[in-house]
Amino acid sequence: MSTNTIPLSRPFAWRRIHSLFGFWIVIFLTEHLLTNSQAALLIGENGEGFIRAVNFLKNLPYLHVIEIVLLGVPILYHMVWGIRYLFTSKMNALPSDGKKPMLTKYGRNHAYSWQRITSWILLIGIIAHVGYMRFYMYPTIVDTGKDQAYFVRITMDPGLYTVSDRLGVKLYTQKAIDEVKEQVTRHAEELKTLSSDVEKIQESPPPYVYQKNIDQLLSHYQSLEEEELYLKGLEKRSISGNEIIAEAPDFGTATLLIVRDSFKSVFKSILYTIFVLAAVFHAYNGLWTFMITWGIVLKMRSQSRAVNWCTAIMLIIGFLGLASVWGTYYLNLRT
Ligand code: HEM
Repeated sequence: MSTNTIPLSRPFAWRRIHSLFGFWIVIFLTEHLLTNSQAALLIGENGEGFIRAVNFLKNLPYLHVIEIVLLGVPILYHMVWGIRYLFTSKMNALPSDGKKPMLTKYGRNHAYSWQRITSWILLIGIIAHVGYMRFYMYPTIVDTGKDQAYFVRITMDPGLYTVSDRLGVKLYTQKAIDEVKEQVTRHAEELKTLSSDVEKIQESPPPYVYQKNIDQLLSHYQSLEEEELYLKGLEKRSISGNEIIAEAPDFGTATLLIVRDSFKSVFKSILYTIFVLAAVFHAYNGLWTFMITWGIVLKMRSQSRAVNWCTAIMLIIGFLGLASVWGTYYLNLRT
């Protein structure tokens, strides 16, 4: 008996992996934009939902492994292979001088072209977005022993007085940072003297009996050490002009301040609008082609129904994505 097995070609396998990772990123994008939308009005007053969701994600165990394996690798693979596919694709819905086919009357041809055009926007957008949010603006986290402090560098505006009050955020100008520095310098000598006492206590032989004065000394020593660490956090990023350092009570609040600060700028909001529109088009048009690639929708009727579903999800998630861009500062957290 002969079996007709078709060998799995490598380019076919690479393309399927590209497609699967694309689908995986669609799930991530949906979660990402749903979370972000909660920074805006109506859905999350004062961004409470956003803060809770970001804190939940930040507290996931093995977060760095998750970030690299579940996000970094799929996005990088999809990007790198995507660039290869971009150079071999042939768009046929753009104006042409006659040398190339120009089949503009078919909606799916336009979608094919836009899937490729948005790839370029996303390539630049994702690199810029990750660089800006994950590295340039990322909160400085200082473990002071008892607590953690989260510092972000933002620009001052009148709304921050009340917003910071409601969110439990402390604002530091350069003058306020210098005052903390002066205090730490004043305490430096005391810290040095105490450290030899602390060393002696720690090295003392048993038996150990509770002594109130030792308890007080160690607590005082610890608070002086915390003060030093706190200053390090405050000074990690230098400020100039109307910049200030904000100290937030948790990571979610610090992130909310970064989002608010970014979308205060109309220029950045416009850039993010283009980025969000490109992402939702690419993702949910891609979801449709993914379903065809994997044989999930086969009949013509179910394929055209699937287009409607994907377009509906695209519009809803697109609206939520734009809500976080235009709603966080201008509607929700301006004052
Ligand atoms: C928000 C980020 C992204 C998401 C959610 C996403 C998602 C998807 C999905 C679901 C598909 C359809 C796969 C299929 O038809 O089986 C797709 C296709 C594609 N993506 Fe992405 N993608 C993203 C970013 C990018 C980037 C940055 C590039 C390129 C630099 C890119 C290039 C491509 C290309 C060329 C295709 C068509 C592949 C083909 O015809 O088989 N994508 N994407």
